[in-house]
Amino acid sequence: MGRATPVLTTKRLTLSAPRANDADVIFPFVHGEPGRVVTDMLLWDGPASIEELRDYYEKYVLKEEPDSVEFGWAIRDRAGAITGTPGRPLGSIGARLSIPPGAAEIGYYLAPPYQRRGLMSEAIRTVVSYAFDEWGSSSVRAEVFTGNEASQRLLESLGFRNVGTLPEQHEKRGETVDSYGYEVAPGQLRLGSE
Ligand SMILES: CC(C)(COP(=O)(O)OP(=O)(O)OC[C@H]1O[C@@H](n2cnc3c(N)ncnc32)[C@H](O)[C@@H]1OP(=O)(O)O)[C@@H](O)C(=O)NCCC(=O)NCCS
Repeated sequence: MGRATPVLTTKRLTLSAPRANDADVIFPFVHGEPGRVVTDMLLWDGPASIEELRDYYEKYVLKEEPDSVEFGWAIRDRAGAITGTPGRPLGSIGARLSIPPGAAEIGYYLAPPYQRRGLMSEAIRTVVSYAFDEWGSSSVRAEVFTGNEASQRLLESLGFRNVGTLPEQHEKRGETVDSYGYEVAPGQLRLGSE
């Protein structure tokens, strides 16, 4: 039997597989000039059209390779306390978990209206706990552009540490960018007061 993307819940959020109609809500936050506050910080430049995003969500399946499994979750307003609509998507988080368990890697974004309320802290804690407790990962890593202070502060507040500038550079909209590696091991994750 195939694997399924697990549903994870926190106090305010549900993390579950994306659905086609999530595109209607998420598209304006990741497209074009207004979306750049988000997409400038990601390797992904955002979708060219709403159809592209809808199609991507509709066909979403977890990615299974011989040496890894990659889950992509929509971050949702669990009970409607944030947006008035239970299940409404607010952003995204993904994790690549290695087989056999070793280092895991995460990537994430949140739509600007919902930032600075501790929501990504909640989402990352639950995904990292999943990696450690359910998958047996030995560490969880994130790659952060050197200019992305918000994400660096976020990871540091969760107990990740900066392991230095990574050797691999990326091309982002025609410019070369450097990234810091961030890493947390079991026992180092700050669980907060949830
Ligand atoms: C980075 C990002 C995910 C943060 O999400 P968030 O839900 O706003 O983060 P939280 O509210 O959980 O923040 C936790 C802590 O991180 C730090 N932080 C978050 N955003 C910050 C900002 N804009 N500037 C400085 N520190 C910030 C703060 O210490 C914050 O705690 P505080 O609000 O009590 O001061 C969000 O800004 C985002 O999606 N940005 C664009 C995409 C992106 O950068 N993705 C990550 C790529 S590596």
